[in-house]
Amino acid sequence: MDSENFEEKIYPLGYEPQTTPEKTDPNVRNQLLDFILHSGPSEVVDTDLFAVMAKRRSTRKFSTKPVETEKIDKIIAAADTAPTAGNYQGFEIFYVKNPEKKKQLIPACNNQPYVNSPVVLVFCKNPTRVKFDFPEYVLKKFAIQDATLAAGYSQLAAQALGLSSIWIGMFDEQKVMDVIETDLIPSSVLCIGYPEQTKFPKPRRNLKDLVHVVW
Ligand SMILES: Cc1cc2nc3c(=O)[nH]c(=O)nc-3n(C[C@H](O)[C@H](O)[C@H](O)COP(=O)(O)O)c2cc1C
Repeated sequence: MDSENFEEKIYPLGYEPQTTPEKTDPNVRNQLLDFILHSGPSEVVDTDLFAVMAKRRSTRKFSTKPVETEKIDKIIAAADTAPTAGNYQGFEIFYVKNPEKKKQLIPACNNQPYVNSPVVLVFCKNPTRVKFDFPEYVLKKFAIQDATLAAGYSQLAAQALGLSSIWIGMFDEQKVMDVIETDLIPSSVLCIGYPEQTKFPKPRRNLKDLVHVVW
């Protein structure tokens, strides 16, 4: 994404947060991020992290109700709070706003129609940002973890904001890259919106089958 060059604007061209600090100061650490995370009003449905986790359920049917910009801001900001290897932030977020491109993502994602959701975020790996002096395969491994974790944070943030989402991992990498016009490889496509209906969470394995105690 191209950044705007206007001196005080620190957000990308085509995406302006709902509210921004009156005066942005590049010397203040995480100023915009903290401002967005703390700003209101935005209907935070659940502030209990564990309740958010317990209630989250993938949605493949979204209502046509648009998602408020301030919620999108928080979802994106949440991704930016995730830990990353060496804090190098080896990932990028492509916020697909163009309705035509959203439609083009459907065939790129194995013809899954719900990809055309109110908010579509493509998380891409960017191993070139990871400046460790390690072999390339390690940097790539870090970048996929960075991108995945960031998307997970966004997914939980969406849930906390009363939204729902579907994580898309089944896609043709090159086709998605062609649609969003990047040479960075996507790790996931996160589709977000208001659910048509709220469903119960899906069952999971018993803890005894999941956890393997190593003495
Ligand atoms: C790595 C990964 C890839 C996934 N890919 C897809 C996908 O391509 N299409 C889809 O409909 N759901 C996909 N999902 C969503 C899962 O089907 C869903 O998370 C799972 O059934 C558990 O349901 P829950 O999220 O409601 O707990 C994916 C989830 C993950 C974590």
